[in-house]
Amino acid sequence: MNGRGINRLIGMTMVLLAGCAKDEGPLFVPQVPPVVPGEPIDTAYFTTEVQPIFDQKCWVCHPPNAGLDLGEGMAYDDLVNVTSTGFAPMLRVVPGDLENSLLWHKVSFTGQYGLNMPPAGEPLSTEELQVIRDWIEQGAQEN
Ligand code: HEC
Repeated sequence: MNGRGINRLIGMTMVLLAGCAKDEGPLFVPQVPPVVPGEPIDTAYFTTEVQPIFDQKCWVCHPPNAGLDLGEGMAYDDLVNVTSTGFAPMLRVVPGDLENSLLWHKVSFTGQYGLNMPPAGEPLSTEELQVIRDWIEQGAQEN
């Protein structure tokens, strides 16, 4: 390679290095809807989404079964951070912790804690299970 060739090679290398070092910022800035701090993307609401499932599919037996009242105005206080009647020291619902929430094991049919819920008839639908799952994972709020 002659002198000019080497100079060109060095020149090109410099250009390439300069290109790498130059901070051009992000090429693409995605347009996303504003996120409300502390608000999950798809909030699950206890009053309007979880309670209606209990009304339709659980209230017929709760109360009185297992000392659990899933009726309106009772269900929240009877579930969240409350020790199970049949499977103590397991708690019925641990906010943010699906694995340690008895309610989740019952409705998702893990079979690890006695009868699955409901014990007869149709299991909860995929959508209903998703609501209960989201609600527990999002901190089991009284919302
Ligand atoms: C046909 C009656 C019946 C229906 C309907 C029913 N349950 Fe139950 N449930 C029971 C009985 C009986 C037990 C106690 C035996 C057991 O836990 O295995 C129980 C226990 C439970 C427990 C455990 C309580 C504890 O403290 O140990 C939970 C949680 C529960 N049910 C939730 C539900 C939910 C949620 C639904 C609706 C999806 C539901 N159940 C529907 C009869 C029913």
